[in-house]
Amino acid sequence: MQVQHQANSVMAAVSELTAHVEEVDDRDRDNTNHNNHDREPGSEHVAIRRLIRRLRISEPPTRFRELAANVLRASLGAQAVVWIPRDQGEPPIIAGRVEGVDWIDYRELATAGARDAAGSVAPVPMPTVKEYARASAGHAGWVVAVNPPGGRAFLPAEVERIHYVASLIGTQLANSGIYAELKGLLFGVIRALTAAIDAKDPYTSGHSERVARIAVRLAEELELPAPQHADLYVAGLLHDVGKIGVDDEVLNKQSPLSADEYQKIQAHVEIGVRILRDLKKLNHILPGVRHHHESYDGTGYPDRLSGDAIPVEARILAVADSFDAMSSNRPYRRRLGLNQIDQIFHEGRGRQWDPRIVDALFACRADVEAIRQKGLGESLIGAVDAALGRG
Ligand SMILES: [Fe+2]
Repeated sequence: MQVQHQANSVMAAVSELTAHVEEVDDRDRDNTNHNNHDREPGSEHVAIRRLIRRLRISEPPTRFRELAANVLRASLGAQAVVWIPRDQGEPPIIAGRVEGVDWIDYRELATAGARDAAGSVAPVPMPTVKEYARASAGHAGWVVAVNPPGGRAFLPAEVERIHYVASLIGTQLANSGIYAELKGLLFGVIRALTAAIDAKDPYTSGHSERVARIAVRLAEELELPAPQHADLYVAGLLHDVGKIGVDDEVLNKQSPLSADEYQKIQAHVEIGVRILRDLKKLNHILPGVRHHHESYDGTGYPDRLSGDAIPVEARILAVADSFDAMSSNRPYRRRLGLNQIDQIFHEGRGRQWDPRIVDALFACRADVEAIRQKGLGESLIGAVDAALGRG
């Protein structure tokens, strides 16, 4: 909750800043006395608005700071714009070049005022630095701009702009911290749930991860857009999460199931949706979880959907799930041979499974078999990014 609250405050700060920049933009539009004859009037605010649009929570801080330094330098026409992090272990970001001035000198320019206040000395003279302006980005560091064009001093509006950009960098840094925290939380939740599914049924240990990876490979083969790959990965990991709510006795029964027991097993798709429903960032995977046991001919469960009425994620998961289930040992049978599995897919093509997805499976058969034999991977990190990037 605290994280959510922090995220809201940061987003409120960003909207405020955006409004402020737009206000300055309006003010400047009325002011026809532009000194930047070599640049399109108002382009500096276009540049800053571009920066604000890039202020995404998932943007890596370094990339944003590089962009900020370059955009600010171009909009000021300054010889150099430098980001100096307060933490001396972090490298500075330098856009442009001033003869004879290195990053230690820039740090000197950034921090000299603070030292003055403590009774220390002013920056050492640097002959090539004619004019400079700086702005603090809170606890994160400073933006220093050096030598505006034409040997003049920085104008008040330009100094204001340097402060905006420093604030944006500070905000983006705060966003990144919150993002990392959210990402860690969601990552932990998905991993914990996946581990709980695997612990529930040792026979199927690793099944969730394999289904996830096979589903992604099928999505590639079907040329689905990349964001859907990440969704399928998470849906694959959690498709059977509802089994946590099914009795172990029923789940691991070696003899044939009674009608009542079969119903209890079938309930796992609805239990899965109930478990995940409150995780808003994972709402997009619910159709895959609910419908991965639908059959293409309409004889599956829980809703007896058929054909394209079954969400595509669920149709893909059904193929990936069946492939892995058939090629793994189960309490009631040993794994099937590859030829036998192929035969079953041929027979079920267009009946149990979407024919296009079965064709995709055959088209990347060797890859799928290799994926099935691999260990756990890093794919979850990208998938969590994608989930958090959602609105
Ligand atoms: Fe299932």
